Amino acid sequence: MPPTGLASTGPRVVVAAVAHTIPPRSLPALRRSLLDWFRAHRRPLPWREAPALYKTVVSEFMLQQTQVKTVLPYFARWLGRFPDFAALAAAPEDAVLKHWEGLGYYSRARNLHRLARAVAVRPAPPRTAAEWQELPGVGPYTAAAIASIACGDRVACVDGNVARVLARLTADATAFASGSELVKHFRPLAAAVLAPTHPGEWNEAMMELGALVCVPRTPACTVCPLFKHCATAAPETAAAIPRLERPKTEQRQVVRLWCVHAGKLLLHRAAAGSRRLAELHELPAAADLGIDDTAAQRGALLLRRSRSITRYRIVESIHRWPDTAGTATKLAVSAQQNSAGGAALHWVSLTELESIALSGPHRRWVRELLARA
Ligand code: ADE
Repeated sequence: MPPTGLASTGPRVVVAAVAHTIPPRSLPALRRSLLDWFRAHRRPLPWREAPALYKTVVSEFMLQQTQVKTVLPYFARWLGRFPDFAALAAAPEDAVLKHWEGLGYYSRARNLHRLARAVAVRPAPPRTAAEWQELPGVGPYTAAAIASIACGDRVACVDGNVARVLARLTADATAFASGSELVKHFRPLAAAVLAPTHPGEWNEAMMELGALVCVPRTPACTVCPLFKHCATAAPETAAAIPRLERPKTEQRQVVRLWCVHAGKLLLHRAAAGSRRLAELHELPAAADLGIDDTAAQRGALLLRRSRSITRYRIVESIHRWPDTAGTATKLAVSAQQNSAGGAALHWVSLTELESIALSGPHRRWVRELLARA
């Protein structure tokens, strides 16, 4: 039965809701139903076949903010080039970034590289979630996933997908102001339902249920292995749970410049500390060159593309910079000024573009523009 009596308690939109509890006596049957289903229906993912700690770590880093189907080709290529912690630890950073190109959130690649170097010099890898969380790029979810799946640590993984399953199981219609509040709310319940004898399999089963059955908009309640344990158990009601206040999307405009001079293209490389781009190259924004957007837009419009990044709807236009020769001469100065925090402007030979790390969309745009020339 869906809860009633929702009442806003102020701007953070926390709403009182009457959630069901899961009676402890029903836990053994609930766990058995989900584990049996998982063993029969789980996808044969490459990190599940012949599992190994290194594969678990790589897959969990790649799966942060990224869907399984996107990760698959990257995972195969990565394992081919960096087959274990030692190979990854010994690799140069540009090779590591190049193999991540297109996956986004490039700080993950740098952190994974640093993690491999840390693991390689230890007498043994960490075993508990608390120890894993000390390593670069490992938050509570990734630590719980690695430690439970690869080391048998009894710790529950909770992300938005697992929280959705738990919210529906208990018909909990609390309204959350953010995904992180949602996750925090369900940590105690996730720990209570965890199958103590099979923590890794249990966590993967919860993720798999969230990915295949208890999906956001069209939950397949009639084929759900937890149907008889679920306080919601109806697609129309389940689709409205969990209640998450969506942040408003914001429009952004970015004006970029296409500067080719003497067989070289001007690119901007993000600072190493940038979470999304960490040392990746992109076409420079006018602001990176100290040029205002209106001046930049006087150049011919070559390409206009929109994309969404988190809650931003970004329209990017790429303009030919008419004064490329002038820019080339001034750039020594402006490159200095813009190199704060490790970010920098670089002229890259057109023949070397394929060997440097460019962000995914910029790789496509650059190829498209060069194909026109
Ligand atoms: N998402 C995060 N970790 C995962 C895993 N181990 N299997 C499937 N999806 C996941």
